[in-house]
Amino acid sequence: MKDVDRIAPPGSEERKLLESIPPERFPKHVAIIMDGNGRWAKKRGLPRVEGHRAGIEAVRSTVEAAARLEIPVLTLYAFSTENWRRPRWEVLTLMALLKEYLNKELHTLVENNIRFRPIGRIHELEPEIQQGLAHAVEATAANTGLFFQIALNYSGRAELTDTVREAVRLAREGKLREDDVDEAWVAAHLATAGTPDPDLLIRTSGEMRISNFLLWQIAYTELVITPVLWPDFRARDLIAAVADYARRERRFGGVPEAEETEET
Ligand code: IPE
Ligand code: IPE
Ligand code: MG
Repeated sequence: MKDVDRIAPPGSEERKLLESIPPERFPKHVAIIMDGNGRWAKKRGLPRVEGHRAGIEAVRSTVEAAARLEIPVLTLYAFSTENWRRPRWEVLTLMALLKEYLNKELHTLVENNIRFRPIGRIHELEPEIQQGLAHAVEATAANTGLFFQIALNYSGRAELTDTVREAVRLAREGKLREDDVDEAWVAAHLATAGTPDPDLLIRTSGEMRISNFLLWQIAYTELVITPVLWPDFRARDLIAAVADYARRERRFGGVPEAEETEET
């Protein structure tokens, strides 16, 4: 049985919701567009960067909740290739918070058997961050619990572009033929290689858009948009999204399961 007492105490609403979800209906990969930090701060008359600072606590508790719920893969969208367009001070603060998170939280990841991997154009980040990320990957490489991916300087289009470039390079070197390229080849050469496509994509703060996240991988992902602003997101909100997902009927272009055997 999952160790959920801390995130959903016995008798609580979250616990009841959790107990109503059949085990086989849990998502294997949850991806989250963490949005609404700026609005959270604005509501309180604070600068936007205070929203980002508060968002760290939401990251911490969501990672813990995903681990306790035994969700195999969690991917968080932290910084897009378009986010460089933000004011310089905001970008610097986001990078500083990332460094702080890596310094402070690495031991929690290690202790909780969490494996860590950044995805995105990591080589374009500042050297100190690259080192911090590489260290976190190394320190958690042997862990077997939650696989926690963080998307940094990431966008779906950049990822697909990099994959196409790699294909061209391999072809030029005579290591790849046209017939070798199928959907499985593409999936295996994306940043997310080795993980199943997300079953559930959550976006906080009510925005109904994808903003260049995991474009290839979300072809058949179920979407849950919550009005909760990212800094307020906690285990109860993750559980609510999982419960919503568990009630969905997925078709993948086919017919409802119950009608599969029907003769016409
Ligand atoms: C999400 O919050 C954090 C990042 C994109 C880095 P925002 O900063 O986008 O918050 P809003 O959307 O302005 O409220
Ligand atoms: C998406 O949020 C990127 C991240 C959460 C890192 P944005 O706030 O940047 O997206 P838009 O600009 O509202 O589409
Ligand atoms: Mg936003």
